[in-house]
Amino acid sequence: MSLIKLIEFDVLGDERGQLVVLEAMKNVPFEIKRVYYLTGTKAGVPRGFHAHKELVQVAVCVSGKCLMIMDDGVKKEKVWMSSPSQGVLIDRMMWHEMHEFSADCVLLVIASELYDENDYIRSYADFVGMINNE
Ligand code: TYD
Repeated sequence: MSLIKLIEFDVLGDERGQLVVLEAMKNVPFEIKRVYYLTGTKAGVPRGFHAHKELVQVAVCVSGKCLMIMDDGVKKEKVWMSSPSQGVLIDRMMWHEMHEFSADCVLLVIASELYDENDYIRSYADFVGMINNE
């Protein structure tokens, strides 16, 4: 089974341009508690490098592109994110890294919980240890 779970969003709009709607429990599979976005990520600087114990997120590259890597502790898969009409589900207990941000990349993230540093697993060795004990 693929680690990359894509969510296709309908693109609304007309001659004025496009409009994409994200709605809790409709095209986003959880109640939305937090939204954040990454902008101005410097060339060659990767981000992420953590997993979450309980948090579930959907990431959307609304502008530009970046490379998302998902790792379940056994295998690793990559997907280029470059479409504002496509979300990538970042499930709980999924190590994720974002690489190769374009200068114009805006990565929007929708989250199921408020920010909680205690929910982060920032050591890959700890992550693999926890996966093996689940
Ligand atoms: P971090 O999650 O480490 O960033 P990334 O995964 O993109 O590399 O977050 C960077 C900093 O921002 C860190 O000090 C925690 C803080 N932060 C918040 O205060 N609230 C938030 O909702 C998020 C996502 C991060």
